[in-house]
Amino acid sequence: MTRRLLIAGNWKMHGSVEMTTDLISGIARAALETATLSEQRELAYDILVCPPSVYIPAAVKAADSQPIRVGAQNAHAKSQGAYTGEVALEMLSELGCDYVLLGHSERREIFSETDDEVASKFAACCENGSMVPVLCVGETLAQRQQGQTETIVAAQIDAVLDKVGIAGFSKAVIAYEPVWAIGTGETATPEQAQAVHAFIRAKLAELDADVANALRILYGGSMKAENAADLLGQPDIDGGLIGGASLKVESFAAICDAAHVLALS
Ligand code: 13P
Repeated sequence: MTRRLLIAGNWKMHGSVEMTTDLISGIARAALETATLSEQRELAYDILVCPPSVYIPAAVKAADSQPIRVGAQNAHAKSQGAYTGEVALEMLSELGCDYVLLGHSERREIFSETDDEVASKFAACCENGSMVPVLCVGETLAQRQQGQTETIVAAQIDAVLDKVGIAGFSKAVIAYEPVWAIGTGETATPEQAQAVHAFIRAKLAELDADVANALRILYGGSMKAENAADLLGQPDIDGGLIGGASLKVESFAAICDAAHVLALS
């Protein structure tokens, strides 16, 4: 089965209204130019940007009639209530978000989100039904060195399976982001990443082969123009979740171009 590649930018806590507008229009222009040169009318892959939540309205406006979707970086599991500073899934969806990142390692590490809390958010997203959850999973360097990569990733996924079952992954995306590769400039080798992606898909295939086959599993962690084609060319890597390199038109568009070339090959 051919899965459509998804190139996603996680802007984290960066940007401004002006940057949001300029970045989105610049990415759209560059991506469409490449597509036109390759004589494709439409992009052969999907583009997603996840700006800070306050810039979502500006992003949705800038992405209007462009082949770019907008996502949020986090959400609360409850639909409303006394949760000062939090944002509900319904609110993000109302603003025009199509995707939401859940359980990013920075949420897990800096804001102490547990596997169970992340799973509750995922379950709420499934129940709400208006956005695609992007479940972020990954091990720390110490966990990898102790040979625990698969155990950790499996536990993060099992917490979600316990709440929503395999059906919850029929309209979802997983992003494998080894913590040691995030923002460090150190990338997992294509072989290291492929091995974990294949593990995730095989684990889910034990429950439902069709869901596992259709599921897009993105790689994140220092993806950039120089390594994108090798990573995206792996059989179980279906896109990228990009941090630093998503903040400049040139670097993000170069990754998009790599996806376009691969999708047409
Ligand atoms: P970098 O691409 O900056 O390593 O960040 C990856 C990431 O955390 C995306 O969610």
